[in-house]
Amino acid sequence: MKKVNIAIDGPAGAGKSTIARTVSETLGFIYLDTGAMYRAVALKAIRQGINTRDLNALSELVKNIDVRIFYAANEQRVLLDNEDVTCEIRTPEISIAASDVAAVPEVRIKMVELQRDIAKANDVVMDGRDIGSYVLPDADVKIYLTATVEARALRRFNEQADKGIKAASIEEVMKDIEYRDRNDSTREFAPLVKAGDAVEIDTTHMSVREVVNKIISLIKEQST
Ligand code: DC
Repeated sequence: MKKVNIAIDGPAGAGKSTIARTVSETLGFIYLDTGAMYRAVALKAIRQGINTRDLNALSELVKNIDVRIFYAANEQRVLLDNEDVTCEIRTPEISIAASDVAAVPEVRIKMVELQRDIAKANDVVMDGRDIGSYVLPDADVKIYLTATVEARALRRFNEQADKGIKAASIEEVMKDIEYRDRNDSTREFAPLVKAGDAVEIDTTHMSVREVVNKIISLIKEQST
């Protein structure tokens, strides 16, 4: 039977992961955070001392990389060459490096193959930058989340503080977000873009619950 695929895209800090996770729990679907895959590639590059803007070195690196996703107690875990790197990939340094490596077509092609396999085998809520526009063009429902850059920076700053990751200041977080917005939306291959048939939700003044409810009702509408 064809699986149900929900695509949630948008820039960093728009609320994708919290919202996608809550929607997936409500529906009993799995949640796939595709950014974690690009983060794992970035971690490998950094560990090997590769410049994350060196396209040739990265396309070589990705030939021999093994990125896998599994679920433990309903939580997504990421395996890089058989090592669980779920926690290591959450630093600000890896955020920037992931945005760099994600611009390399060979990296994307490999990760997208994995993402499509997961979507074929599971009912899934998948979040990323190009899910509705490129990875799953036939997704059942496509959502594009936005928020002002100030709201996104404040959320990221608070999120990092909660996890004990020390960011210098909100201004610093905002600079990183602006760098990634530019990088992610101007790359040539599968950039961050709202799919023509995606529903855009500006989350700046909305609570997580309000956004989740709106998405669930869109999904219900779609299936009736
Ligand atoms: O969602 P995130 O912050 O974990 O993503 C990290 C980087 O990975 C992001 O800046 C761009 C890249 N990415 C991508 O290019 N395509 C995706 N589907 C998901 C993430």
